[in-house]
Amino acid sequence: MIKFENINKVFTQKKNTVNALQNINLEIETGDIFGIIGFSGAGKSTLLRTINALEKPTSGRVIVDGDDIYSLNAKELRAKRKTIGMIFQQFNLLETKTVYENVALPLKLKHTPKKEIEEKVNKILEFVELEDKKDVYPSKLSGGQKQRIGIARALATEPSILLSDEATSALDPKTTDSILALLKKINRELNITIVIVTHEMNVISSICNHVAVMEDGRIVEQGNVIDIFSEPQEEITKNFVKTVIQDEVPELLMKSVYEDKRNYKLLRLKFLSSDSTESVIAQVNKKFDIETNILFANISEIQERILGIHIVQIVGSDKEIARAEQYFTLHGVGYKELDGEEELLREVG
Ligand SMILES: Nc1ncnc2c1ncn2[C@@H]1O[C@H](COP(=O)(O)OP(=O)(O)O)[C@@H](O)[C@H]1O
Ligand SMILES: [Mg+2]
Repeated sequence: MIKFENINKVFTQKKNTVNALQNINLEIETGDIFGIIGFSGAGKSTLLRTINALEKPTSGRVIVDGDDIYSLNAKELRAKRKTIGMIFQQFNLLETKTVYENVALPLKLKHTPKKEIEEKVNKILEFVELEDKKDVYPSKLSGGQKQRIGIARALATEPSILLSDEATSALDPKTTDSILALLKKINRELNITIVIVTHEMNVISSICNHVAVMEDGRIVEQGNVIDIFSEPQEEITKNFVKTVIQDEVPELLMKSVYEDKRNYKLLRLKFLSSDSTESVIAQVNKKFDIETNILFANISEIQERILGIHIVQIVGSDKEIARAEQYFTLHGVGYKELDGEEELLREVG
């Protein structure tokens, strides 16, 4: 487990002071893929770098698997750092060394016997699917291949934690997906805890289990990824969620709702399922004396589950609408009444 306790970080440059981290308290479970999201300057990298002592907090403690990082002596810290790998947006490969030499470097620094280095490096290169690039120099590689080498190098010392600082931010969407899939494989097959810093919400929805949202050096919201995506609380979180789950009720539909003189309710429905996509809405239509108009529907795959967000107008008597609501509850569909135009606009705008 990685535990941040009351972390503060102040940068002072001449007349300028920046409160880069303010009173951060956070726990990252072993085995997790934990995302930290925020805009540029939020303090994400600074926080990440406190884990492997690249950035010493002004106050507070960082505990990594039981060790208080900043009370270790130099020798203990060197040993600890070998259990923490790191990858970067700009890959940070040595251009004058081959792929093999780049990956072998951390093992060489550890004085690993040559034969053992050879075995390990070959195995890792196979794992990242670049064994055929062994003798190539980084300048001959694509961005995605470079990042695979960065990852291979980070894995060389067999870490238990992998830190990723915007590792996919310089890559195109397709390459991003393949790197994210590799990170997931690393988490699952090698049991490595991964902490991912990003400004892209699709990175979070693709592979993270938990997420913390940072703004101005603070964590403003955190939780399970599914919960955050289905019920974001803070304005900034809502905006990040919108970059993945686009929600917009067409003007024309809204207008027809406002002009509807019948008895109706506007509901925001949320459902989660891992298998069935059968629409509960179709069922309530059949079972009760109501009419439902779907104003907005979104289905996203998050953490290998389906998260559905629908906004519906249910027309009918209060009694029949109440029965439909009961049916939603019974079938695990969360609902919230949207009251009037203003709320609907806020919900979808
Ligand atoms: N070495 C440094 N010296 C001075 N200010 C810094 C330094 N590193 C980061 N900062 C400042 O701290 C804040 C947080 O930076 P950073 O952690 O890099 O944010 P993020 O990774 O979220 O973009 C920013 O205002 C940044 O300018
Ligand atoms: Mg950064």
